Amino acid sequence: MYSHATKDTGFSNLADRLGNQAVRNDATKGTGAHEPVDRPKGRALPSDATNRATASPTAISNHTSRSNTTPGEAASTSTTRLGALAEKLAREHTLADDEYRALISGRTPELAKRLAELARVAREPIYGTRVFTRGLIEISNICKNDCLYCGIRRSNHNVKRYRLEPETIVACAREGHELGFRTIVLQGGEDGFYTDEVLAGIVEQIAAACPDSAITLSMGERSRTSYKRLFDAGATRYLLRHETATPQHYEQLHPANMRWERRMQCLRDLREIGYQVGAGFMVGSPYQTIDHLVAEMRFIERFKPEMCGIGPFIPHHDTPFAHEPAGTLELTLYLLSMIRLIHPHVLLPATTALGTIDPRGREKGMLAGANVVMPNLSPIAVRKNYELYDNKICMGEESAICRGCLARRMASVGHELVVDRGDFR
Ligand code: 5AD
Ligand code: FES
Repeated sequence: MYSHATKDTGFSNLADRLGNQAVRNDATKGTGAHEPVDRPKGRALPSDATNRATASPTAISNHTSRSNTTPGEAASTSTTRLGALAEKLAREHTLADDEYRALISGRTPELAKRLAELARVAREPIYGTRVFTRGLIEISNICKNDCLYCGIRRSNHNVKRYRLEPETIVACAREGHELGFRTIVLQGGEDGFYTDEVLAGIVEQIAAACPDSAITLSMGERSRTSYKRLFDAGATRYLLRHETATPQHYEQLHPANMRWERRMQCLRDLREIGYQVGAGFMVGSPYQTIDHLVAEMRFIERFKPEMCGIGPFIPHHDTPFAHEPAGTLELTLYLLSMIRLIHPHVLLPATTALGTIDPRGREKGMLAGANVVMPNLSPIAVRKNYELYDNKICMGEESAICRGCLARRMASVGHELVVDRGDFR
């Protein structure tokens, strides 16, 4: 197991450092690196060759050789240089900001392929091609928050709200256990019904019913006392995506009453209590720039979350971001590979959102270095109401069918779905 003591030290100044980082990033506006990424229409695209050339940072460019080459040669020289950066990332698990920026903005299909190979090599001695499953139970879509991107935000009055009774949740967990799930994830909106007492009671019942399973919570921001109580009840993992490592970007995605600093405090509290912590962000969320992604890479490098959930942003029709473009498969896969190289031990899901933007998104995720899938164990009757984004997959499938389907999908790309708690190693 990872030593929490060393990690705590590493994180103590993280909020400050990331804050400074963001200010520095803003101060360098106008370099082209600040263009929103993943914007297909009318905005600078990192995959555009011209743009790539201008966005290449001086740290890795060799102007002499570039001026002596034809455009085709220049492109291939640049690919070679970026290939060297990919190798460096695999070796050293870190890059300078300019190098991260170059690797992300200069990405090509060949580089993506190389990064994915390196990611699989990094994963091999730790997890091999074993894929862990987490049975996800969406316990409530009632939420006091109003995140601008989320389909179940408080202001969306078109959602049919539900919450599962504790007995239903425990029954779903039992069913999951019978199907071979050894991690149960309880996820829900920030719903006041689930007081510490109620939630701790559910955790205790699941722990008693499935003693060989891990219990993961994903119930948003709570007090440290609450996190501690739930930990003592038997939950050992907690997923709380940080959403963005840049405070100013956080403000663009959330109403004013939601604070980035508070998120960071929650993550720190969870870690100090002893949870395995899951952070994460959306790829191609509105306003996201290359520099934001550089900050994401740095955040993962420093905080080293045991789990990291990243998936494409997908617009939901009843939110303020309804007309924003979705994040891309290509960039999500690329970042999955980078994250595997930065933090080889990370538990990295190929998310449902990735499976939503591409029918083979989750399989491609495995080939990019992911090693977790999180199928839905919620009762089918409520699934359609837990719509964070449009066109979410697996809405009508029985849990058993879903597991079988995933096992086949994973096998099709040389990976095995295993019956295992899938602890961080
Ligand atoms: N697209 C993709 N992911 C989303 N999430 C919420 N809304 C969306 C969306 N529109 C993600 C957030 C949240 C997690 C539960 O789901 O990152 O933390
Ligand atoms: Fe759910 Fe295929 S993974 S039906």
